[in-house]
Amino acid sequence: MERNRQPITANGMTAQAGVSFTRLSAARASADLEQDAIAGFAARPKSLPPKYFYDAEGSMLFEQICATPEYYPTRAEEGLLACYGRDIIGAVWPRVIVELGSGSSQKTRRLFDACEALRLPVLYQPLDVCSEALRRAAGHLADCYPWLQIDALIGDYVADLGMIPPVEGPRLFVFLGGTLGNFTDEEAMDFLSRLRAGMCPDDCLLVGFDRVKDAAVLDAAYNDAGGLTAAFNLNVLKVLNRHLDADFNRDDFRHRAFFSRHKRRIEMHLVARRAQQAHLRRIGLTVDFAAGESILTEISRKFTRDDIDGLLGRAGFAAVRHDETQNGYYSLVLAAPASRSQ
Ligand code: SAH
Ligand code: TRP
Repeated sequence: MERNRQPITANGMTAQAGVSFTRLSAARASADLEQDAIAGFAARPKSLPPKYFYDAEGSMLFEQICATPEYYPTRAEEGLLACYGRDIIGAVWPRVIVELGSGSSQKTRRLFDACEALRLPVLYQPLDVCSEALRRAAGHLADCYPWLQIDALIGDYVADLGMIPPVEGPRLFVFLGGTLGNFTDEEAMDFLSRLRAGMCPDDCLLVGFDRVKDAAVLDAAYNDAGGLTAAFNLNVLKVLNRHLDADFNRDDFRHRAFFSRHKRRIEMHLVARRAQQAHLRRIGLTVDFAAGESILTEISRKFTRDDIDGLLGRAGFAAVRHDETQNGYYSLVLAAPASRSQ
């Protein structure tokens, strides 16, 4: 009942004890979408950045995908966090846990469990573009971990990386879900290098990597039989319709996801079922689609152990520990900034 008496913050959100919300990129989101749509529909193949999947509905769908029998990465990563969480927390002894693309924060609970067991109070700074997901996650966490201080950050982990409020460390940066794989190699290098540049010697990065494996397992993970991934992919058209006053018809596109062994990545597409035009009235853009033409909506790269070591090394990190599932499907890596003299 306490809760009902909590003040409303500047963002209009109800605050819970120990929970605050900060918007890192006020009023920029819709301008981003306009520019990204213009650039993406001019590109060949047509493409859209994946962050637009995650409106309130998209985030709910993603949580449901995580629970499907086909989508193994969530269970694999949660198992690793449950198994090695204490060792990880013990090795870093963080005062702050900063999570990039935190979503439901469901798996991160295994780290809070470890903090609790080690009697280590921490400040949690989850950062996500989806304010609804952040609000829900923060509410649940505050109920389950009353000792946890939560400073939720609404923003873009690429554009706003330099705007994370600095707090006395050590800080543990967490990037789960294989989300680093949603970047191209160049983007991942740039992102990791910038992250590394903002880290102190005692800070660490915990990052999940989905591994290269049997194509049938990968294909199934991005084509669940229940059609949730298809609904998630198609949801981006609704986001375009809503924010850009567009007239995409979901029935005129179909979901397609496949593993390219050559590129070591899943590619997610929306394929036009017939030749058509879409009008994005808000930006005065008409987009032509040939039958069978597709929009690349996401890549999800899959890594070998050598890929992981190479990428981290080039970005100035050294692995402190590398934990993997027994079947080698998934890796969870704790990395520290490599010392400057090296
Ligand atoms: N960490 C969670 C969610 C992974 S899905 C897990 O492992 O299950 C990716 C998450 O990142 C979503 O919550 C999405 O809203 C968020 N996201 C995607 N692009 C983003 C961006 N550019 N900036 C901030 N958050 C982003
Ligand atoms: N980071 C997740 C991944 O690459 C995102 C994801 C999972 C996803 N399933 C999806 C994105 C389906 C779009 C569609 O595995």
